[in-house]
Amino acid sequence: MPHTNGKSGNNRRKRKFDGENDSSFKKILREKRLMKKRKQELKQKEENMLDEVQDKYQEMLKKSSRTFHSFEDFPLSWKTLEGLKENEYVKPTEIQRDTIAYSLTGSDVVGAAKTGSGKTLALVIPVLEALWRAKWSPEYGLGALVISPTRELALQTFSTINAVGKHHGFSCGLVIGGSEVAFERNRISGVNIIVCTPGRLLQHMDENEQMNCDCLQVLVLDEADRMLDMGFSKQLNSIICNLPAERQTLLFSATQTRNVKDLSRVCTN
Ligand SMILES: Nc1ncnc2c1ncn2[C@@H]1O[C@H](COP(=O)(O)OP(=O)(O)OP(=O)(O)O)[C@@H](O)[C@H]1O
Ligand SMILES: [Mg+2]
Repeated sequence: MPHTNGKSGNNRRKRKFDGENDSSFKKILREKRLMKKRKQELKQKEENMLDEVQDKYQEMLKKSSRTFHSFEDFPLSWKTLEGLKENEYVKPTEIQRDTIAYSLTGSDVVGAAKTGSGKTLALVIPVLEALWRAKWSPEYGLGALVISPTRELALQTFSTINAVGKHHGFSCGLVIGGSEVAFERNRISGVNIIVCTPGRLLQHMDENEQMNCDCLQVLVLDEADRMLDMGFSKQLNSIICNLPAERQTLLFSATQTRNVKDLSRVCTN
């Protein structure tokens, strides 16, 4: 006997299927709307933070560095705070506590602290925050340059920038001896943060017309004492001559030798 109500088994299945489709479609739409709303809220929060950040820095400078028990006590962007939390960095080390307040305000900083004291984060946080304050976007090109004495140290800093800076969306590139220079040459113009060794950077400055430092906001010299011990003094001076004078400089070193003091006089204000 054929169905008389016009609702064949097939149609029933079809309607049921359509119903499921309909509700999952609505669910996707709802999720999309929520995601859009969340993005707008975060954007607004970001704008508000950027408006207030200079006032917050002034308040921060009035406090003693001893009162910064956690990274949340610093006026950092939520993107950096989230990156720190995800990597289980909660309390600043002494060198971080003592320098971050000054480096956040855009001042030049010379930091000396022994090996293993946490100098990498002390440079990574202000670099990320400087570009965030400047509303840096990928197409602006090079905004920060971190010079390290060896490939291994450069790689370590590069990893920390990528891990802690994950939510910022800045592109970060490694420019170190031993990797293919042609590969670096073609990609260098699109990079926001370069972590490099002095010799290879100078090679790009001399030979690569795509290497443009005109908009550089922050220069970091990491392990400055080691770079000088390794005989990089001439290269560093040539690099510094190629950079815009209007920039922030952060110099970190494990020791404060006479040569380090001379270098810091040349490159900081
Ligand atoms: N605030 C922090 N909380 C927990 N661990 C940290 C913190 N800061 C740094 N570290 C860890 O301490 C170790 C040493 O840090 P880092 O390499 O930055 O020191 P450094 O002063 O640069 O040493 P070096 O002179 O050898 O380069 C790393 O394993 C790092 O992950
Ligand atoms: Mg270090």
